[in-house]
Amino acid sequence: MNVIYPGSFDPVTNGHLDLIKRCSEKFDKVIIGVLNNIAKKSVFSIEERIDLIERSTENLHNVEINSFSGLLIDFAKEIECPNIVRGLRAVSDFEYEMQLALANKKLYPDLETLFMVSNTEYSFLSSSIVKELAKFDGDVNGLVPKEVKFALIKKKKAGDL
Ligand code: PNS
Repeated sequence: MNVIYPGSFDPVTNGHLDLIKRCSEKFDKVIIGVLNNIAKKSVFSIEERIDLIERSTENLHNVEINSFSGLLIDFAKEIECPNIVRGLRAVSDFEYEMQLALANKKLYPDLETLFMVSNTEYSFLSSSIVKELAKFDGDVNGLVPKEVKFALIKKKKAGDL
């Protein structure tokens, strides 16, 4: 069975990577769907986000990276994969994730959303927290892979954080 792991990944964190690795052990293929949303301002371009995920997952051989724009259900239909996985870090994630899952199910009844509980080590972690830390020279070691850390330093130097 294949599964889509969708998200903004702006940028990918060790929490995302933990989930990707665990999914790669459970599913035949993990298709990472990176949302290319022109209406939402992201620090990293779609190309940069994909490149960082590619470099951080090169040891995993059943991971594929795609971008999508518009609705997730249309992407799922297009690539003929009716399974989505989302990480749950805390109870606070649940309400939004349920809403997303139910809206997607309403529009595409064959679609299944699976939830994977985050590793407790990363339950506080988000791309926003990482960007905030990097902006004020906080230590992001252990929270993101080294390629993301260097990319964040570069963004900070360019005044783009
Ligand atoms: O990493 P994120 O930002 O929490 O990911 C959210 C994402 C990309 C999964 C979600 O915003 C999404 O699926 N966006 C595409 C538009 C869509 O299909 N929305 C749900 C129906 S209203």
